[in-house]
Amino acid sequence: MKVLGIETSCDETAAAVVCDAVAPEKRILSNIVNSQVSLHAKYGGVVPEVAARCHVDAIDEVINGALEEAGCTINDIDIIAATACPGLIGGLLVGTVCAKTISAVTGKPYMAINHLEGHLLTCRLCYDVEFPFLLLLTSGGNFLFAEVLGIGKYKILGETLDDAAGECFDKVAKMLGFSYPGGVAIQKHAEHGDPERYKFTIPLQRRLGCDVSFSGLKTAVKLQIETLGKLTEQDKCDVSASFQNTVVKFIIKQLGKALKMTTSNPKSIVVAGGVAANTALRKALMDFASQHNLKFFAPPISLCTDNGAMIAWTAIERRRANFPFSPLDTKTSPRQSITEM
Ligand code: KG4
Repeated sequence: MKVLGIETSCDETAAAVVCDAVAPEKRILSNIVNSQVSLHAKYGGVVPEVAARCHVDAIDEVINGALEEAGCTINDIDIIAATACPGLIGGLLVGTVCAKTISAVTGKPYMAINHLEGHLLTCRLCYDVEFPFLLLLTSGGNFLFAEVLGIGKYKILGETLDDAAGECFDKVAKMLGFSYPGGVAIQKHAEHGDPERYKFTIPLQRRLGCDVSFSGLKTAVKLQIETLGKLTEQDKCDVSASFQNTVVKFIIKQLGKALKMTTSNPKSIVVAGGVAANTALRKALMDFASQHNLKFFAPPISLCTDNGAMIAWTAIERRRANFPFSPLDTKTSPRQSITEM
């Protein structure tokens, strides 16, 4: 089975060809990502209208590039998959209309894919990860802990009450004058900073469950920056390190609570999404997993952020689990939980 996966939910126009080879390293036949990051950087964040127009301009070339790199033509493809939710509606429409059109013209089946499910299954694309596992999904727009029992069997244990962690990284980066997206810049500055210089309170200490909140932390960082006045390079590094340290400690604390809430005795911890690229977070998760006798899986850095390979792979996983193809009138939707597909 060969699947063309199309991803346009935010600021990357991406397409990939993925097959169902037994060996994980043989599955990705091509993976093209055309990032719009530099275009949005001057606005300090993604501008939905600009993003949608860029997807229109780039999509043909990206899809042709993915087919070419995989050494195949559209005739060799079995399923056309595209991200249909959640995300920025303009971008989602570009990808899904394109996928549906290819499907209508070629007669190949279409599969509408949930972007979050794509992130969730990325580690199963790359490694032999068995169910059940405890998932931490942390991206630019989403944050959740879930117990993953099988394909389509997702029990959400906790979510963010406000911002996603990636959004908080980006906003703190903006306050420090770093360019968008800020996660990588915060990480780089944190490497030269003192994580203990500023004490930011860990949020939701007294709340039961494993939900998270990042807006209070964001405000605390803003107030600290205002108190400092003109920032030296070292101040920026210390704020980055102290902020990142608080985020990591908070996530690990809530992960401990999430693990206690599981009922299926998960064997591994799996992380996914853009923030999964953060080195300090990956190390803390690895330590947590080994302390609890669990395996730990994180995607290769290149597959943490949005890509078409995870969308194509999700179509393969869903077909194997006997989920149906999607009719061509399947709706595209900006908001949708992973439990609703
Ligand atoms: O998964 P993704 O591409 O977007 C969504 O699907 O939402 O993730 C993008 C997010 C951005 O907020 C970016 O700042 C963050 O992931 N990110 C990082 C790192 N690399 C990317 N955050 C922290 N540390 C990193 N190294």
